[in-house]
Amino acid sequence: MSVLKKESIKDLLSKDYLMQILPGLRDIKLENIKTNGLSGAKIYKITLFSRQDKKSLYLKINNLKEDWLAKVNKDEGRELDIFKDDIYSKLEEFINDIYLGYYIGDNSYAILMNDMSVYKKTNNSEKECLYYLNNLAKFHSKFKEHDVTNYKELLNVDEYCNFLTKTKVSEVEEFKENYQKGEIILKDILGENLFNKYDEIKEIDSIFSYYPKTFLHGDYRPDNTLYINQNDIRIIDWANSGCGPCTLDVFWYLMTSVNVKFDKTILLNYYKMNLENYIGYKLTRRTWDTLLKVGILASCKMYLVSLLANSNLEDKYEYLNIYYWIENLKSVLIDL
Ligand SMILES: Nc1ncnc2c1ncn2[C@@H]1O[C@H](COP(=O)(O)OP(=O)(O)O)[C@@H](O)[C@H]1O
Ligand SMILES: [Mg+2]
Repeated sequence: MSVLKKESIKDLLSKDYLMQILPGLRDIKLENIKTNGLSGAKIYKITLFSRQDKKSLYLKINNLKEDWLAKVNKDEGRELDIFKDDIYSKLEEFINDIYLGYYIGDNSYAILMNDMSVYKKTNNSEKECLYYLNNLAKFHSKFKEHDVTNYKELLNVDEYCNFLTKTKVSEVEEFKENYQKGEIILKDILGENLFNKYDEIKEIDSIFSYYPKTFLHGDYRPDNTLYINQNDIRIIDWANSGCGPCTLDVFWYLMTSVNVKFDKTILLNYYKMNLENYIGYKLTRRTWDTLLKVGILASCKMYLVSLLANSNLEDKYEYLNIYYWIENLKSVLIDL
C-alpha cells in the first residue's frame, strides 16, 4: 500500500479521504500530543468515530520556519525524502502500516499516520538491543550512496544555541549552562591540545577521504521506533535522515539509548556481523576501521558534551561508559 500525496492539509483531512480510512465516519476529535521531539513539529491525535467503530490516527505537522534542524541544515523537510519512489520501495517494510498520506507546502509539511502506540514498547534489555541493531543493519544494507542525495550533517550545537536564543528564550539558558558544563569536563579529560583539535573539526568529510555511505535514519532511538516483535521494528521520524556512514546511526543509538552496563563492543560486532550477512560480503579491515573512526567522531561531536553534563561519574557504570567514548575519541584524534 502506497502513501497518498495530497494537495493541501484540508485534502489530507477531508471527509472523503477519512471515510476511506473509516467507512461510516460521523465525527472527528483532534487533540494535541505533547512530545519530547526537538524538531518543533506538532503532533495531533485524531480520533475518527463511526456508529459502531472508532479509529485513531496521528498527524505530524512541521513548520520548517520553526524547525531548528531544518533551519540549521538548510533543508526543505528531509523527512519527506522517504516518500520518493526509489527510497520508499526500499523502506516499505520499515514503515508499512504507519504512513497513510502527506502534504508538502512552501514552509510546512504534514504527515498522516496510523496510530501505532500499541506497539510503542521495548524493554531495552540487552536482547532487544540486539534486535534493534539487527533491524538497523537490515535497513542500512538496502542502500548505496547514490540512492540518497541529501547528506546527513552534524548537528551544530552553536547554531542550535543561536536558534534557540531567537525562538525559545526560556530554554536557552538551561541548555547553554549544561553545554558549557559538559565542555569544561571534556576539556579537562582530553587536555588542551586534543580538545582544541577536536573543537576545530566542523565537518567530518574533509578529514576522511573515502568511506562507504548509506542512507541513515539520523535519530535511531526507541522513541522513534515502534517495536512490533524481534523481527519487525518499524521506524518513524525521518527528520534527521540523510546519507552518511552507517556507524553514525549505530553509535548514536549506543550513546543515547543503550543501558550503560551493556558491553558496547559485543553490540557493535553484532551489528557488523548482521550488516555483512545482509550485504553478502565482509567489509575489509580498513573500511571498518574508517567507519568506526568517522562514526565515533561524528556521534561524539553531536552528543558527548551532553552525555558528560548528564552523567554521574561517581557511578561505576556511568564512569566506564564515559571512558568508552573518551578512549575511542582520543585514539581517533591522536591519529588525525
Ligand atoms: N503513528 C504514530 N503512532 C503512535 N505514536 C506516534 C506516532 N507518530 C508519532 N508518535 C508519537 O509522537 C512522538 C513524536 O513523533 P516524531 O515523529 O518522533 O516527531 P519529533 O520529530 O517531534 O520527534 C513519537 O516519539 C511518538 O511517541
Ligand atoms: Mg522523534
